[in-house]
Amino acid sequence: MTVTLPAFDQLEDSLWLTLCGRALDNRRDHPLLGDALADKIVSTVDYDYAKLKIVPSSAIYIAHRALKLDQIAGDFIARHPDAIGLDLGAGLDSRAHRIDLPSTADWYDVDFPNVITAREQLVPALPRAHNVAADLADPGWLEKLPTDRPAVVVADGLLAFFTLAEWSAILNRIIDHFPSGEIAFNGYSTFAVKAAKIFPGAKAVRSIMRSEGFDDPRVPESWNPKLKLVKEVLLTREPEVEQFPTGLRWANQLSAHSESLSRRGNVVLHYRF
Ligand SMILES: C[S@@+](CC[C@H](N)C(=O)[O-])C[C@H]1O[C@@H](n2cnc3c(N)ncnc32)[C@H](O)[C@@H]1O
Repeated sequence: MTVTLPAFDQLEDSLWLTLCGRALDNRRDHPLLGDALADKIVSTVDYDYAKLKIVPSSAIYIAHRALKLDQIAGDFIARHPDAIGLDLGAGLDSRAHRIDLPSTADWYDVDFPNVITAREQLVPALPRAHNVAADLADPGWLEKLPTDRPAVVVADGLLAFFTLAEWSAILNRIIDHFPSGEIAFNGYSTFAVKAAKIFPGAKAVRSIMRSEGFDDPRVPESWNPKLKLVKEVLLTREPEVEQFPTGLRWANQLSAHSESLSRRGNVVLHYRF
């Protein structure tokens, strides 16, 4: 397959980190997520993932949070078969392929035009999945989407690239657009902000991270009165940790005893509106 990809800027390029993380998880003997399509895309473009220095634990954490976001989206769509699913900053992720998308639901993957050009070549089309080429900071992109259906909105690996003021503005526009719904994204703690300055795995994105981070999962409730926390999902406490390799499993089970320690790591924040 011949694929001609646009030249990505550094922000767009960040999609390889999460895509390769899921691909590397898929190459383990017992993958957590089993994202064969991510693996296929990385192989198709022969991407040199070694340069990203993704350590095995990071690949597992990336796969784990993707799995949690899939579960939230899948559960919502099972309860609301006419729902709209939205993946903000979707990169080359194929979440609509991983969840069971009924013929009554629609899925929208939003990312910059360059990334959507790559998606169109690399992510197989689905009848009810649509690509939206837009800058999320531009209020106009939402106008193309229906306003009368419940929505589930996920963002994987995105929060770090916005200040909290920008992020809350994006969420507020989404909350105003749809009658009701749920929003879930992986958290970015104040510890993660500091750790990103030294962690080798963050080297590729360090200079473009802009979030101040936050630790209290109720902070977003102050951005919009309709936004209510459903659950702070501390991934150290989730059942899939049982499937982690021994050392990583022990480390997570130990951290699970401490809320503040767990909050420093892999967290998925889940809200309704
Ligand atoms: C770390 S990647 C994550 C990609 C995908 N969610 C995944 O899990 O593989 C971040 C993605 O967000 C996109 N992104 C960042 N800022 C954006 C913006 N303002 N508008 C649209 N997309 C954006 C980037 O282009 C990139 O594809």
